[in-house]
Amino acid sequence: MPFLGVNIDHVATVRQARRGNEPDPVAAAKVAERAGADQITVHLREDRRHIQDRDMDSLKDAVQISLNLECACVDEMLKIAVATCPPRVCLVPEKREEITTEGGLDVVGNRERVGEAAKRLQDAGIVVSLFIAPDEAQISMSKELGAEAVELHTGTYANVVGDEQQSELSMLRNASQIVLAHELRLHAGHGLNYTNVVPVAKIPDMEELNIGHSIVSRAIFSGLEEAVREMKLLCQT
Ligand code: PXP
Repeated sequence: MPFLGVNIDHVATVRQARRGNEPDPVAAAKVAERAGADQITVHLREDRRHIQDRDMDSLKDAVQISLNLECACVDEMLKIAVATCPPRVCLVPEKREEITTEGGLDVVGNRERVGEAAKRLQDAGIVVSLFIAPDEAQISMSKELGAEAVELHTGTYANVVGDEQQSELSMLRNASQIVLAHELRLHAGHGLNYTNVVPVAKIPDMEELNIGHSIVSRAIFSGLEEAVREMKLLCQT
């Protein structure tokens, strides 16, 4: 049964629309925690379009459950990660013009940079995960570079339907076997929602799902506590 990381970026997106104080992502994290989230996930983007640096410190103090920082593999972010020292960091690719994380991190093409970043984070006592496509070469290289976990990118699976989605699910299942054979911890995320999460949650030994946009979207209508509870139930089916 995977544990649920609730990504609260888009609570901060609404706040940043007015550059004010509400809604407060720290308050959201506490509600998510109360509703059964196992982890709070935030993505500190280079353009700071949602989560801000100050949120990291506040969240670290406020949250009892695990805090997972997603960030680009660049010096600025690594410095912040080491200074804040959340228990977990997930390295992701980032292009300034994208509206969300578009592909997996190319750990094969950037092995030196990713390997050095992973070591820097691990030396600070942080558990490192790499956000990658469900691809054998990327998985093997993640192991070689010393990552503890990989988060398989479920964005393609989430963006298609019918037979195409079944075929993406098979790719995720096959990749999961390779992840486990490499003795890496198995995580997944991106684009997961209330209708597509169950088959991914049921992949054997899936340890963690990080889900944000769909939970915050539902929270607008049902409230965050209810939205997190419902997602947690689906993760446990
Ligand atoms: N995992 C990673 C690595 C991400 O970059 C994101 C988006 O920030 C998510 C999970 C959450 O994706 P979504 O908001 O689509 O649920």
